[in-house]
Amino acid sequence: MKYRNIVLVGGSGFWSDQNHIMSILEVGPRNRARIGAIIDPVNPAIVTKHINLQQLLNRDHPQWLDPRRYTNMKELFGHLEQTPDLVIVACNPEAHLEYASFCISQGINVLIDKPINVVANASSDLLSARQIYKDFSKLLALQQRVQEPHLAVTLLRRRTLKPFRHIIREVADCYQRTRQGITQINIIVNGGIHKFPSEFFSTPGAHGYLMGVGSLSHSAYHYIDVVTWLLQSAPGDVRYLRVSLACVKRIADYIKTGGYSALQQLLDLPDTLIQSPEPIPQTILDAELDSSFTIEMLDSNQAVIGHINFVFCHTTFTSRTRTIEVGDDHANYPNGGRMSHIYLDVQQGSLQSWQLEKNDIVFQGNTIRLSGRVHPYYGRPQIYSKVYEAAYENTERPLSILLEDVLSMTDNTHPTVNSNQYIKDIKSETLNMRLFSTFYELLAMNKVAGLQKTISLDVGSLLTEH
Ligand SMILES: NC(=O)c1ccc[n+]([C@@H]2O[C@H](COP(=O)([O-])OP(=O)(O)OC[C@H]3O[C@@H](n4cnc5c(N)ncnc54)[C@H](O)[C@@H]3O)[C@@H](O)[C@H]2O)c1
Repeated sequence: MKYRNIVLVGGSGFWSDQNHIMSILEVGPRNRARIGAIIDPVNPAIVTKHINLQQLLNRDHPQWLDPRRYTNMKELFGHLEQTPDLVIVACNPEAHLEYASFCISQGINVLIDKPINVVANASSDLLSARQIYKDFSKLLALQQRVQEPHLAVTLLRRRTLKPFRHIIREVADCYQRTRQGITQINIIVNGGIHKFPSEFFSTPGAHGYLMGVGSLSHSAYHYIDVVTWLLQSAPGDVRYLRVSLACVKRIADYIKTGGYSALQQLLDLPDTLIQSPEPIPQTILDAELDSSFTIEMLDSNQAVIGHINFVFCHTTFTSRTRTIEVGDDHANYPNGGRMSHIYLDVQQGSLQSWQLEKNDIVFQGNTIRLSGRVHPYYGRPQIYSKVYEAAYENTERPLSILLEDVLSMTDNTHPTVNSNQYIKDIKSETLNMRLFSTFYELLAMNKVAGLQKTISLDVGSLLTEH
């Protein structure tokens, strides 16, 4: 019997274990799919802490390819024992682009984790920051040139969560009926990630800082997507977004101001353990931990319709009790203290307002509270209030089923995501990537005295073409 062959890039990592591999263990048998190869510099056999991965190794016996042994993608993929039906790219974000470009150029179906791409040192180097969107645009241009039909998609979990979808439906419905667009979005996301100086330098991986990019490259992309999703659901007359950096705290600031001292005392850690044995390179010190952006929404005459505040912080309250990790990421453990703490406030002019709140320790449950009010004359119940328990389990469509959806799309002669509202073609990521890149451009500009601190984006067509 022929199996669909999946190649997992970054298969020795955390998210592969927690999501992609867990999903394939569940849906693989009924979809005749298995992981034929793992591409990762780390040998999956030695990552015993990843239980799903170890189960997969015993079941699918995937080939392991260490990308460092090959000079280019063609050579690396040339060593696969079987042609891939789908490549999942779940490695460090700065390596996404090379894999995605190669797969697209060869007409190979590819699922790319968020963010689609980022460039090393973008937190402090303006050319690198600008390169993020340039590279993304080149990827889209490449996709248009390639004749071979293929799928190039991403999956974003917030898109599957019922409370987020509830707000979107209400906002879109109100817009369809009244043409009232969104006027204010305030979003605050607190991560509770506190590392000690020695860990900044020694923690590898997608959620480290070694590549000179910080918290925005970790999980901010999900919330950039929430903002653009809302805007696209009720754009009103918005034509331009004027984006400015309100505040940034970089690793250098955190260390200089002793941001870790109180936690050091609580965990009773000696200086010898927490101080970096070597000087931390400047590019790492420049990586962002907490940042906040203001986005003005303007009409075609540059008049202000409303505004968005986007606040994304790492160094907020933590429940961390785990002591020092060298060469590992403490935040991937239940006692690592990572928080999933979100406030979202959405105003649609005088007609309705929505508030979503979440305050969980990661790995210890997901509860989302949602409330909303509509105008008394709007013809609906005026108040909505609901608590969504186990919000990540009780979704509109589980991530494992979405992987199943992607697999079945790959069977089509012309794979397409048109009828699936949860899976996003990379073309529909254009506005997200434009904002993501803009945030980095502003962070890098902030390092250079005298540079303008605002970037205007003409987003008219991006708000309607999605
Ligand atoms: N959608 C989500 O909710 C979600 C959640 C967590 C992570 N992610 C994404 O998944 C990806 C991995 O994150 P993670 O938390 O598992 O990080 P991780 O650091 O645990 O894993 C990354 C893996 O990629 C490997 N790797 C590094 N460079 C590579 C290269 N050039 N080629 C192949 N493999 C390489 C590393 O050795 C590691 O095993 C990131 O893109 C991240 O943004 C998505």
